[in-house]
Amino acid sequence: MSVEPPKTYVVTGAASGIGAATTAYLREAGHLVITVDLAEADVVADLSTGAGRAAAVAGVQDLTRVVHGVVPCAGVAGLTGVDPQLVVSVNYFGSVALVRGLRAELAAAGGASVVLLASNSITAQPGWRTEVTTACLRDDETAARAEAASVDAVMVYPATKAALAYWVRRECVKAEWVGAGIRLNAVAPGLIATPMTDQLRADPQLGVFADAYPSALGRPGLPEEVAATIGFLLSDASSLVVGSVLFVDGGTDALLHPLKPEGMQVNPIALGVLNSMAGVATKLSALRRKR
Ligand code: NAI
Repeated sequence: MSVEPPKTYVVTGAASGIGAATTAYLREAGHLVITVDLAEADVVADLSTGAGRAAAVAGVQDLTRVVHGVVPCAGVAGLTGVDPQLVVSVNYFGSVALVRGLRAELAAAGGASVVLLASNSITAQPGWRTEVTTACLRDDETAARAEAASVDAVMVYPATKAALAYWVRRECVKAEWVGAGIRLNAVAPGLIATPMTDQLRADPQLGVFADAYPSALGRPGLPEEVAATIGFLLSDASSLVVGSVLFVDGGTDALLHPLKPEGMQVNPIALGVLNSMAGVATKLSALRRKR
């Protein structure tokens, strides 16, 4: 294993969870990391808006003209009470805009790597809003937000993550990306113990499902385990990996789909989880009404 010379990486959502662990992992390896987040970052910017995304790109460009890798970790969970439109704008458009905005700096590295944060909710959670995904992939934020507005955020989150995975698949082979020496890949983590999943556990309706999906390892993942996988995909050790979506989920996807990953397919285990979700949500609402 060779030690790589110091490189410059950009990590969004770096103030918390997987973004913070990825930043720590890369800095420990001697790399420079430019962090982007709503607070406590080198570049403070709100990735939910066009103006905020432009400010994030400009803020990075003020600090460097060469970027060896981008990891857009900033994301919003589809929890009760969360605006589903915000989920669309941060998760998909906030990620893709930053990667596109820094394309010239990535090309200038003469060999660069981008790792997007998808999620195994794409294959583990059935019934999500495909119309949101297709609008994202058409680059139509207004339409994607409008589609999202008609359902709960929980059905929008996997749709935004699927859009990121499909964007990687579609774009990676193009001249502007692989042709410019920029590899595009994604990771699809399962349940990882971060502030995001702490919020899921505290959710009045969805909290009971935090541990409902099976894991072959029988435990949640750690942000450091996802960071190590991202570190591999950023490194030259993964030089042949282009357009892959790597599940980092302790075997959840393999348990649900033993033969191949399947997106919208309603698998019996996932269907059981979904049915119990609906049942418990109804009971909780009934209890609340009684009080
Ligand atoms: P987290 O909640 O711990 O961290 C998310 C970070 O994103 C926070 O620092 C937050 O300030 C930042 N952020 C949110 N909205 C922003 C905005 N508008 N502009 C700039 N920054 C913003 O979340 P976690 O768990 O570390 O997740 C990181 C990524 O991994 C997310 O994209 C998430 O969807 C994805 N993921 C997480 C999983 C998990 O189980 N924790 C599973 C699969 C995917």
